[in-house]
Amino acid sequence: MTGPTLEIHLSDDDLTSALRADARLGLTTDPKWLPPKWFYDARGSELFEQITELPEYYPTRTERALLQRVVGEIARTAQAEVLVELGAGSAAKTRLLLSALTSEGPLKTYVPQDVSSSALRAAADEIAAEFPGLAVHGVVSDFTDTLHNLPGGGRRMIAFLGGTIGNLVPAERAEFLASIHDVLEPGEQLLLGAGLVIDPAVLVPAYDDAAGVTAEFNRNVLHVLNNRLDADFEPDKFEHIARWDAENEWIEMRLAAGEDMTVRIRDLDLTVEFTRGEQLRTEISAKFRVSGLEAELAAAGFRTEHVWTDQQNRFALVLAART
Ligand code: AVJ
Repeated sequence: MTGPTLEIHLSDDDLTSALRADARLGLTTDPKWLPPKWFYDARGSELFEQITELPEYYPTRTERALLQRVVGEIARTAQAEVLVELGAGSAAKTRLLLSALTSEGPLKTYVPQDVSSSALRAAADEIAAEFPGLAVHGVVSDFTDTLHNLPGGGRRMIAFLGGTIGNLVPAERAEFLASIHDVLEPGEQLLLGAGLVIDPAVLVPAYDDAAGVTAEFNRNVLHVLNNRLDADFEPDKFEHIARWDAENEWIEMRLAAGEDMTVRIRDLDLTVEFTRGEQLRTEISAKFRVSGLEAELAAAGFRTEHVWTDQQNRFALVLAART
């Protein structure tokens, strides 16, 4: 068996120019914002892994337990030959899916996709070692615009787990689901993991943990700008904020400037002023209702085949077929 291959559709240069464009746009509008994908350099990916172990951060363990319970059922109904995992990251819960799809189905190929080449390389190596006989083909890309690069070669299932769909606003979700629809053949499936709307008393601490790991993760986007764009943010002077937006039903993370600041972003030849208390938006994490998920899937041309939720109704796994 040959080792895993890694296909890079996102070079360092591509990443840098995308970051430059996002930073220039986001830091010169009011309110200021930066897209959440820039959290995930090597340090950010590591901080996210730490978040998943926090007592307050229920999504990862809830989804994993749910997946553990229903993965056999998924494997038997899906009969996938190729598993494409979008935003695979460290691929921790993928193991459950891979062992079920190989033992109870005809899975031959695993295609993990992620924006972080460091996380992806490590995951691809580990999975290839653990599943001899499985072809592992990693794709470094931005899932929102490089879906067409995903390989075929058999009946596919695209898995998008972890609740990352919640990072997209409704219009972006519609576009994203439509683009998945476009690359699949009729009958091929999408397995979607999504956080559900729950009591804010449980939700908010998941994004504002006592140990401050999420705060560090949030500030990491400023370290990324410092490192990649030669900026001089002082991340420790920004306060982490997580708030529940009840109208939009999403968590919003922000960074509040602790004092008036002038930040220089040398590679953009840009100077940005922050007034004390000014908030920079860094992430939305939308939560869903099952009926809403089904409606969004239907609008994009998917028929929901099965919805599984955990006993506390915190998380849903949806298996949908392209029509
Ligand atoms: C990886 C996008 C699913 O929204 O819950 C964790 C990222 N942000 N804590 C989420 C995150 C703050 C996470 N996703």
